[in-house]
Amino acid sequence: MKKLAVYPGSFDPLTLGHVDVVHRAARLFDHLILAVAVSVRKDTLFSIKERMAMARSLAATMPNVEAVEFNGLLVDYVRQIGARVIIRGLRAFSDFEYEFQMALTNRKMAPNVEVLFMMPRESYSYISSSVVREIASLGGDTSKFVPSFVHAALKRKFAP
Ligand code: PNS
Repeated sequence: MKKLAVYPGSFDPLTLGHVDVVHRAARLFDHLILAVAVSVRKDTLFSIKERMAMARSLAATMPNVEAVEFNGLLVDYVRQIGARVIIRGLRAFSDFEYEFQMALTNRKMAPNVEVLFMMPRESYSYISSSVVREIASLGGDTSKFVPSFVHAALKRKFAP
């Protein structure tokens, strides 16, 4: 049976930290679904269409990665496609509380689904989508923090 994992997120936008986690997870599983959440807790800078376009650009660089959008509860989506593993990136202590709450809530709803935390490369451990958005909105250069296609999308978004 093929080993399938789901890496969910709002990816608003994808950063090099996300890319690093995708590479690591894609080495462990036969198939990795980069699951872009339609409904997220906060307002997003990029629409679901734009976030999917970025996720697809990344998935196109790896043979066993696929970008898919999902709506509703993550655990429902995971069960619907027959997956058993959710991947989440963990950067620092500051991520822990939010991730811990989400992982245990998901476990309560879907006891057969495991959440697997993966740490991105140390040099990416400080990068976050929110900081990237702020830098871009203030006219800064984000090319060291995001893939080139995201950098281009940010430039277009904040073009004068
Ligand atoms: O990149 P993010 O914003 O940290 O990702 C959070 C995400 C999208 C994985 C989370 O909000 C989620 O799973 N949303 C779908 C709705 C859901 O299942 N909510 C209950 C989570 S305990």
